[in-house]
Amino acid sequence: MSSIKIYAPATVANVVCGFDIIGFALQDPNDEMYMRLSDKPGVTIRNLDDYNLPTEPEKNVAGAALLAMLEQLPPGTGFEVEIRKNIKPGSGIGSSAASAAGAVVGANALLDNKFSREDLVRFAMFGEKVASGVKHADNIAPCIYGGFTLIRSIFPLDIIPLQAPPLHVTVVHPQIEVRTSDARSILKQKVLLKDAIRQWGNIAGLVAGLTKGDYALIGRSLEDVIIEPVRSILIPGFDEVKQKCAEAGALGGGISGSGPSVFMLSESQSTAKQVEKVMAEVYTRIGIDFHTYVTTVNNGGARVELV
Ligand code: HSE
Repeated sequence: MSSIKIYAPATVANVVCGFDIIGFALQDPNDEMYMRLSDKPGVTIRNLDDYNLPTEPEKNVAGAALLAMLEQLPPGTGFEVEIRKNIKPGSGIGSSAASAAGAVVGANALLDNKFSREDLVRFAMFGEKVASGVKHADNIAPCIYGGFTLIRSIFPLDIIPLQAPPLHVTVVHPQIEVRTSDARSILKQKVLLKDAIRQWGNIAGLVAGLTKGDYALIGRSLEDVIIEPVRSILIPGFDEVKQKCAEAGALGGGISGSGPSVFMLSESQSTAKQVEKVMAEVYTRIGIDFHTYVTTVNNGGARVELV
């Protein structure tokens, strides 16, 4: 029986103004997974890292996604999965989505691509539900499709891949944990009309800017008047990082997903590296350990190779 290796990329959800509806995939980091079909029915999971994540399929995001897929497969089907997480859980760059999306992309390859990409997003959302308590696809869809994706609706699922110009991405991950469920529970349930108008102007501006390749429009649309003011209090140094990155020439950016990672988009790699320097200076000075990435947008999504 063939055995495959999957690279499942980190993702940036929300892209500042598009809470739960826009995300993009990063070239780095990637989770690595090995999968094969098994004679043992169900899902068998083994961890290849030290994060000690649960291996019971129903408590594991990859497992929950595969269990959803198994419901559509003949009884007796089984998958063996080994997972090495290079994307730290709770980092805000789509760690749970990488496991869930990677698992279903891998399983689909083992099944000769029986399912569509939309089906895979549906299955993987069961994994996201285990992680954060709710289904959202703004990490999963870009992890599977690659590039920028707009999720116009999840019920029914309506995913629109977006064209985008070349972009360089800088991410800083301060080494504190923010649980997505906590970062969601503090959000206000009501939005003022004036804020909603500003936000949907920004979302439309971001989509138009991406598809037209208009960097200035992308930059000025990266504004969030609804979620960021509430969540940014969970991230030490956030306002200073944002201001200094803008001074260093970033187009814009903000909280990656539910945080604590912060991302910035830049037009050139040299600016993206300068942005990294500025981020590092802030977290070194305030004394919080951090990890940075300077990368680009992954346009292919999760990738499978034979081993
Ligand atoms: N859209 C989700 C949120 C992404 O912001 O809660 C979580 O990674």
